[in-house]
Amino acid sequence: MFQSAAATWAQEEEQHGIALGRWADLADSTFDFDAAFTHFKDLYRIPVDATHSVLGSRSGELCARCVVESGTSSFNSAIRDAVDEPVLQAICRRIASDEYRHYQLFARHLARYQTLEPLTVWQRLKVVVSRFKETSDDELASAYHAGNPREDSYNCKRASNAYAKLAMALYTRDHVRTAGRMMAKAVGLAPEAWLTRVFTRVLWWGIALKGRKLRASIVTH
Ligand SMILES: [Fe+2]
Repeated sequence: MFQSAAATWAQEEEQHGIALGRWADLADSTFDFDAAFTHFKDLYRIPVDATHSVLGSRSGELCARCVVESGTSSFNSAIRDAVDEPVLQAICRRIASDEYRHYQLFARHLARYQTLEPLTVWQRLKVVVSRFKETSDDELASAYHAGNPREDSYNCKRASNAYAKLAMALYTRDHVRTAGRMMAKAVGLAPEAWLTRVFTRVLWWGIALKGRKLRASIVTH
């Protein structure tokens, strides 16, 4: 049951990249999606040969997927609300909706696996925080570098900061609140629980602070 749902999910994730790539190809004559994607694959390979759960359990893996889908749903909502271009708005609206559905899929299966491999609230919170931190690793950074080629070679920290500067600028407090509540729900917290409110506020402060720091460093240097 989960495997067939995961196969559909994987197909939809590919379609999102193709739709956005096609839009970028048409919107910017200097951009070549196929070349950028090839460059990305040269820089980064998703490890697909793992035989054990990186997070130690299927519940942990599903919880981490909920974090990713919360992030992609909120990010596409943020792009949708920030841009004026109607086709990009329409694409991002549809992707945000798909991503929310993906979140619901993984949340549903997380609830199922919680009965088989239960994780406490604190264990799931740890998974959420560790997965959230991975947003600054090579995967997003190399994708940004490949899509925005520079004269100099790839540098993870520089590309990650450049990506974050743009991404953080799109988020509003409402987008962060929605994403925070989705992640909190995956942890097992109610939307109005005090820990959810603290988590969501810390998330917003982190995003706002990171945006400010990066903007200041660009002005300084
Ligand atoms: Fe997704």
